[in-house]
Amino acid sequence: MKQLAGIAEIKECRADWRRQGLTVALVPTMGFFHEGHLALMRRAKTLADRVVVSLFVNPMQFGPKEDLASYPRDLARDRALAASAGVDALFTPTAEEMYGGGFQSKVVVSGLSLGLCGASRPGHFDGVATVVTKLFHIVAPDVAIFGEKDFQQLAVILRMVADLDFNLRIVGHPTVREADGLAMSSRNTYLSKEERQAAPCLYRSLTLAKSLAGQNGPPQKTVTPREIERAVTDFIEENPGFAVEYATVVDRASLAPAGKIDENSLLALAVRVNGRVRLIDNAPLLD
Ligand code: PAJ
Repeated sequence: MKQLAGIAEIKECRADWRRQGLTVALVPTMGFFHEGHLALMRRAKTLADRVVVSLFVNPMQFGPKEDLASYPRDLARDRALAASAGVDALFTPTAEEMYGGGFQSKVVVSGLSLGLCGASRPGHFDGVATVVTKLFHIVAPDVAIFGEKDFQQLAVILRMVADLDFNLRIVGHPTVREADGLAMSSRNTYLSKEERQAAPCLYRSLTLAKSLAGQNGPPQKTVTPREIERAVTDFIEENPGFAVEYATVVDRASLAPAGKIDENSLLALAVRVNGRVRLIDNAPLLD
């Protein structure tokens, strides 16, 4: 596996592969790999001849009070894991390489970026859309893989690719979980032992919501989205220190709050743990 830090070098590598008629899959990441990242890399291998993983903790998508400085990093470990997952090139640019030289531009996907995580993280999805645009132009992949754990991010990227006529295919990959249901995340390392033990309440609340939604039957028994949101919030907040930032049943395409529960309904969660760690998860209500 090659590790390349320069934009010119990865472009040259891509051009070589193009001359050989090889297709390329890109997995954008911020590193500190876990099984979720590795599943995306293995999926990428089935979709193209060569796999590029970008590893860049993107300053533009962090708010001024967020965890940019403390975001977990371990390049040596990440390099070994990526190589073992069959990655062909690891692209590790510096912030200077990506945003140096008087950078002034921004890609904004207006509507989809505003609600849910966008409401508490203003500008976050502008940072994501901008860095992903740069990565798409630099690597010129045929396909790029994103996790469904960050379903709003996936929705923003799908919209951007359709709106701006990007020439690639976007593939979503299901959420990879720990044995107890907690969605894998680089940020899980911030959890104390007690917090980690309680954290599967997010996953269990999704299961609770599904069973409530499944009880939809005769009209008088119909459960409304708001009732599900209340039940899920109460269930999670029984755990000391766990505060629900949002628990919203949304339409999975528009991300607008759902008026009723149907096949397109997704329950989206963001939870703050002791004001310090922010966890997200989501699941469709009717599979
Ligand atoms: P990061 O959080 O490192 O995630 C990289 C990719 O892995 C994203 O597509 C994310 O959805 C996916 N992923 C993370 N945890 C997952 C899990 N448990 N199961 C399945 N997929 C999972 O998301 C980002 O980085 C950044 O915003 C990025 C897109 C790289 C732009 O900077």
